[in-house]
Amino acid sequence: TVLFGVIGDPIRHSKSPVMLNRAFGAIGINGAYAAFHVLPDQLEHAIAGIRALGFRGLNVTIPHKIEVMRFLDEISVGAQAAGAVNTIVNENGRLVGYNTDGIGYVRSLKEEAEPDLAGRTIVVLGAGGAARGILWALAQEKPAAILVANRTESKAAELAATFDSEFRIQSIPWGDLEAACSTADVVINTTSVGMSPNIEALPLDPAWLKPGSVVSDLIYNPLKTAFLEQAERLGCRIHGGLGMFIYQGAYAFEYWTGQSAPVDEMREAVLESFP
Ligand code: ATR
Repeated sequence: TVLFGVIGDPIRHSKSPVMLNRAFGAIGINGAYAAFHVLPDQLEHAIAGIRALGFRGLNVTIPHKIEVMRFLDEISVGAQAAGAVNTIVNENGRLVGYNTDGIGYVRSLKEEAEPDLAGRTIVVLGAGGAARGILWALAQEKPAAILVANRTESKAAELAATFDSEFRIQSIPWGDLEAACSTADVVINTTSVGMSPNIEALPLDPAWLKPGSVVSDLIYNPLKTAFLEQAERLGCRIHGGLGMFIYQGAYAFEYWTGQSAPVDEMREAVLESFP
């Protein structure tokens, strides 16, 4: 049996075991994937345990995605840009850290909402870890511009400044958001505004959105946020956060096994696990 897992704190509500075990079953891989509750002061021991037990792969979730980096042997370019690792591949004892959140999000956006991001103008709301995680992957698609707006404007400026100018990532003042949305092709909410239990909250005034544009929300609890509900009513094409979760897992599966992930089965397993 090939061993896999996810570490986090908390971890009880993780849907990764259900999703990845379904994937191994669907492809016929003799793998076992379990969730482990690891407290921050045990992180180093947990990674040593992965080495000792010969796990092939590990997912890493909150709050360990940044701290875990110093216990690994190599960090991919994408994970360096994201400043976080969510997937570890054990290459014969050498632990390599990747970030599949950003590329998983972009793959989901392309599969489910907008296949061609090249030349588009993208507005990103928020400048926290979730925003940082997707910016590098979005930039790989060669959009015309990525405009980052954040309530605390200095954080947006700082985040944009961490990227080379060739990535065309720039910050805009919150006050310019209305104008930016009126010309954007894609608007992405990476803030926590609208997440359960505050499901009525909106990250921006939906009236600013352009009909026909793609409006995306990284939140997947609820599956369709109030922001997306209203955007849809205004004639926008909407994209929810569940796909990001599915495809970050799909990439992890593919890095570990070298095989294409059974995305439909994985999505089915996750949807079945909702109460
Ligand atoms: P994450 O890792 O999920 O991105 P984070 O780093 O705490 O979490 O970032 C949360 C993001 O949501 C930030 O961009 C935050 O804006 P500030 O930098 O101004 O705090 C944004 N956010 C949270 N609550 C918000 C609110 N009520 N209105 C606007 N933005 C909000």
